[in-house]
Amino acid sequence: MMNSPESNSMQREMIFHRCDRTDAWKVLQRHYETQGRRFNLRDAFARSADRFEIMSVQAPEVFADLSKNLLDTATLQLLLDLARECGVETRRAAMFAGQPVNTTEGRAVLHTALRAPKGQGPFSDDVHRVLDAMLAYAETVRDTATSGIRHIVNIGIGGSDLGPQMVVPALDAFAHRGLTFHFVSNVDGHDIVPTLRGLKPAETLFVIASKTFTTQETMANAHVAKDWFVANGGTDTARQFVAATTNVKAAAEFGITTTFGFWDWVGGRYSLWSAIGLPIGLAIGAEHFCALLAGAHAMDRHFAEAPAHRNLPLLLGLLDVWYRNFHGFTSRSVAPYHQGLRRLPAYLQQLEMESNGKCVDLGGEPLPFATSPVVWGEPGTNGQHAYFQMLHQGTDVIPVEFILVKTPAHPLHDLHAKLLANGLAQSQALMRGKSSAEALGEKASTASAALDPLVLAKHRSFPGNRPSTTLILDELTPTSLGALIALYEHRVFTSGAVWGINSFDQWGVELGKALCADLLPRLAKDGDLDGIDASTAGLIQRLRAA
Ligand code: F6P
Repeated sequence: MMNSPESNSMQREMIFHRCDRTDAWKVLQRHYETQGRRFNLRDAFARSADRFEIMSVQAPEVFADLSKNLLDTATLQLLLDLARECGVETRRAAMFAGQPVNTTEGRAVLHTALRAPKGQGPFSDDVHRVLDAMLAYAETVRDTATSGIRHIVNIGIGGSDLGPQMVVPALDAFAHRGLTFHFVSNVDGHDIVPTLRGLKPAETLFVIASKTFTTQETMANAHVAKDWFVANGGTDTARQFVAATTNVKAAAEFGITTTFGFWDWVGGRYSLWSAIGLPIGLAIGAEHFCALLAGAHAMDRHFAEAPAHRNLPLLLGLLDVWYRNFHGFTSRSVAPYHQGLRRLPAYLQQLEMESNGKCVDLGGEPLPFATSPVVWGEPGTNGQHAYFQMLHQGTDVIPVEFILVKTPAHPLHDLHAKLLANGLAQSQALMRGKSSAEALGEKASTASAALDPLVLAKHRSFPGNRPSTTLILDELTPTSLGALIALYEHRVFTSGAVWGINSFDQWGVELGKALCADLLPRLAKDGDLDGIDASTAGLIQRLRAA
């Protein structure tokens, strides 16, 4: 691994070409002004009979239809020029090689090494030693007749929660039927108290998941769990508490003897492939966990090797730049049409917004352009009955990402056909819209007969030309889910590399943590309020326990 001062400075030289200082950026600005801003999807489809073929990409396990986006091959070519000028490929190679691309923490970024087959990739011996031990342990717990375990309580937050919390329900079809999974994250008794209610210590395994083993929320909940365990007759803490952490010493001090370690080159939001994935291993077992890793690895190879114009993570990352920096779209909505993926939007919020929510470049200079969009969403069709109104007729244009799964894991094929038809209809409606003239020609049974039909038609028209991407998985399996998650990771890497930011630190969470430590004692009945602003002091007085 290169981590010397020389290599650090070489890295900066090699990888840091900020997008707004490139020729491609200027060309793209002109292109946007002269053509991009007026791009019309309906016209584009009318002009090009093979638009779908040209603008769709098959990556490992994931098919992507990009054709309902506000771009054509000319725009794509300019975006690829931008990626080249920004040194995205060089930076990608640096990441895979274990160079310290997380410059502010002087760390390599090697989540890709966690899913490389044995003997391949950096740190392979360490990675596979822990992986084998973790999966062997998971199998002993999954032997529930012997282990007696019925409930798994994962205590962790952020990257030590969101990955397993998203993957376990997503892979329900592959999960052990005798184990129930609970995820406690919030430093709020309303999270852990109802979770513990009804559990029996002898049947419960607590996984304390924390990269640092210092996070306030996780440590507080871990202590509550330990107290509950002892108070309810639990005797064998060593057997029923395990840890996933880089801080093995702190876990031992807590009283945990079974610990699965990982390394500082695994970022929290990229850690589900590491020991943090233990709940996933417990749910789906060793074979399926390895398939999850294999799916991600296939996407890693695709990202590293596929030609730029067929490289899906690269193309999606560049599309994000096009929308954020040229069209000025502020958010992106994710609509997984699979109930098992209900936590995917929350998972992606951390992945994308903690990674790319930055306002200075790698050199520390303030950025004159926008970075991470807001990422949000709900599973379809639920979202359709909540906020899709705004997506269709609101004043903001919000690109939507539909995720459809061809074959369900249940036998209710009629239901599944309805689900798919809904997803397709939404992307079609967003694109097509409906003119006032079309609306005027229709009957609307619930419309007021008292209103001028022309006014009514305006209310019932849709602007259309609203972009969406549709991703299709043949089935939601460990392999396809692994590939899908890795696709998102590399897409976030791509836009971050174009923007010239550090996608792998998260200093923005530190100030709140420090202020919380200061305010906590002030909340006490006789706490000192000196030196704090009037608003916070006033709020403390209202919130103090009597
Ligand atoms: O929210 C900040 C953060 O550091 C995340 O990046 C991380 O995933 C989370 O806290 C949890 O940290 P840890 O795993 O160290 O408890």
